Amino acid sequence: MEIIIQPTPEEASRLAARLVAHALREKPDCVLGMATGGTPVKLYEELVRLHVEEDLDFSRATAFNLDEYVGLPGDHPCSYRYFMEEHLYRHVNISPERVHIPNGMAEDIPAECEMYEAAIRTAGGIDMQILGIGSDGHIGFNEPTSSLASRTRIKTLTDKTRRDNARTFGSVKDVPKHVLTMGVGTIMDSRQVVLLAFGSQKANAIARTVEGPISAMMPASILQTHRVAKIFMDEEAAGLLERKAYYKWVFEGKPDWQKF
Ligand code: F6R
Repeated sequence: MEIIIQPTPEEASRLAARLVAHALREKPDCVLGMATGGTPVKLYEELVRLHVEEDLDFSRATAFNLDEYVGLPGDHPCSYRYFMEEHLYRHVNISPERVHIPNGMAEDIPAECEMYEAAIRTAGGIDMQILGIGSDGHIGFNEPTSSLASRTRIKTLTDKTRRDNARTFGSVKDVPKHVLTMGVGTIMDSRQVVLLAFGSQKANAIARTVEGPISAMMPASILQTHRVAKIFMDEEAAGLLERKAYYKWVFEGKPDWQKF
């Protein structure tokens, strides 16, 4: 794991965007895994800026989103398809046919999940997966006790996650109980993982993810076994890390060519 601590979410997001841009420039037909929620908004803003001002080209890229609410159509303002269109897809030159988001309205949910896994395989697998983290340690919507080998499937959200996500719905009772999400195993298959975490409400999950034991009670902790996992955070999210000074020292001492 590489731990990158920056003073603010803006600075961490800018660095993470540089990494995504580097991946896209190295491999224009890169397969990106995308996350939603409050955390990646600044990263997407920066990617849009790089597209507009520095010609960052998405025309050959493919995108797979992590998850979607069951029962929300793509044009619902709280759906993750709507979120992605608003924050990234409609502002860059990605082809709509290469944008994939699980269909929360599918009648046959197991078939939809199998098709999603097959589409990822057909695209050649995910090169770079962007992740946020829930305050309970979920990645995608793999809530605590999710199988660490799981694949795309339906999951039931915890009350805590529904409360955390109520801000976009207005009221917790309107937050769907079910989601379709890539599994932990699906996420672990990606060739590189870029997780972002901001704010003190993520500090406990980050400390347990980075320094705690690997456990299905903290699904993100499995990233300790990923070959290339970069964890970007602000000072507040880093607040409970025992070895914070060491991680900063390592990052500051890196030669420029290693800092993407
Ligand atoms: C969203 C997702 C979730 C979020 C997590 C954090 O696609 O997969 O794991 O990343 O719930 O959400 P925010 O960023 O809103 O705190």
